[in-house]
Amino acid sequence: MTTLIKNGTVVTAGDTFKADVLIEGEKVTLIGQNLAGEGHEVIDAEGLLLLPGGIDVHTHLDLPFGGTTCSDDFFTGHRAAAFGGTTTHIDFAIQPIGGTLRQGVGEWHHKAEGKACIDYGFHVAITDLRPEVMDEIPTLIDEGVTSLKLFMAYKGLFQVDDTTLFRAMLKAAENGMLIMVHAENGDVIAELVPKLLAEGKTDPKYHAVAHPALAEGEATGRAIALAGIAGAPLYVVHMTCQEAIEQLQLGRAKGLRVMGETCTQYMFVFEEDLARPGYEGAKFVCSPPVRQPKDAEILWKALADNTLQAVSTDHAVFWYEGGVKGRIPGKELGLGNFAKIPNGMPGIEDRMPVMWHHGVNGGRFNANRFVEITATNPAKIFGLYPRKGTIAVGSDADIVLWDPNKEHTISAETHHMNTDYNVYEGMQVKGWPARTLLRGQSIVVGTEWHGQQGGGAFLRRSPHAEVL
Ligand code: URP
Ligand code: ZN
Ligand code: ZN
Repeated sequence: MTTLIKNGTVVTAGDTFKADVLIEGEKVTLIGQNLAGEGHEVIDAEGLLLLPGGIDVHTHLDLPFGGTTCSDDFFTGHRAAAFGGTTTHIDFAIQPIGGTLRQGVGEWHHKAEGKACIDYGFHVAITDLRPEVMDEIPTLIDEGVTSLKLFMAYKGLFQVDDTTLFRAMLKAAENGMLIMVHAENGDVIAELVPKLLAEGKTDPKYHAVAHPALAEGEATGRAIALAGIAGAPLYVVHMTCQEAIEQLQLGRAKGLRVMGETCTQYMFVFEEDLARPGYEGAKFVCSPPVRQPKDAEILWKALADNTLQAVSTDHAVFWYEGGVKGRIPGKELGLGNFAKIPNGMPGIEDRMPVMWHHGVNGGRFNANRFVEITATNPAKIFGLYPRKGTIAVGSDADIVLWDPNKEHTISAETHHMNTDYNVYEGMQVKGWPARTLLRGQSIVVGTEWHGQQGGGAFLRRSPHAEVL
């Protein structure tokens, strides 16, 4: 089957140009001017931009966490992503304690099978680095899993010590794999939490007190130093604050191969939201926590000047009212104890429109940089480029027909994520997907779902991805 997208304006990380795009099967095969429509299905994109499908490299679908499970699975999460213009994501397969890395990957394949409707890959989160697990690391490359995540926080659950982190870095460096870290000082947090609870400080707002910005800055600096010693490239996930960004700037200025992402919510949700009346602040509990508006300004600047290379979501979604409404338990688990609030926020559907509106319309960066941080850099860093992350001959035809003039009010009433609240409730944005194509197939047209459960493909990623 061939499809010709006519009259659109192609936006890549490097260029903006008016062109017609021919798709044969799953690939872009020709980009040119005034291509003849005969024999093709023709989609008229007059007035629309053609953006590469968004790539969200930090998500948690169907993750068991905090005494419950994330409420979006590989169907609902994928459908929501596609409505927001994201066609690829990379989820975290978690090594079971006492188990192997492959078991974690196998479990995540099972979660996705028959459900996936966009393309996906896996990172592996190492939780238990026994000697035999160390030997297993390079074998993951054959499975198409080329990035390893280690948590410096969540003591007693996912947290690893510096020895483990450093050993993993050495192994990654030897094999062209990429280390990712959740950088917070988990030991400090584990001291602060019981102290606050003992003082009767149990409300959601104390989550931020227990996770100080300095603890994020300290862990970020430590991870960067360890990576520098190991000669390993490093990608710091969900960076939130000045203290952490400063460490990244320092590392990059020293020529260390360190990169970072932030997540959309850190530019819009703040500590004051954790203190909303009643228990509402629980909606916004995630780790690291939301910070101050002054940190958001630093993050915007870091995204614009390439201190940060990518924006993702850390989509880890729970019901606000879960068990109490007969659903799987959600945020209510932490009533009376902020440390029991399942950590995470929804966002996989909102990232592209929110970042477009406030980034591009807001004059913080141009449309090319938007494409770079939402698709191209994620593809390059994680071994998917140029198959994904751009619109070019030979690339997968993952294309979003983006209407820069379409206005939309974000709301849980209309979103597709499997939860009862939206972090950006009431936010008015201009710029919205008119149509989303995955490998040449229209999976969203306007407000209609055309995707297929099982239509998403697992992406085997390359090692030795780029360090930007
Ligand atoms: O609060 C968060 N971020 N939940 C998901 C797990 C993680 O730390 O990424
Ligand atoms: Zn994390
Ligand atoms: Zn995460």
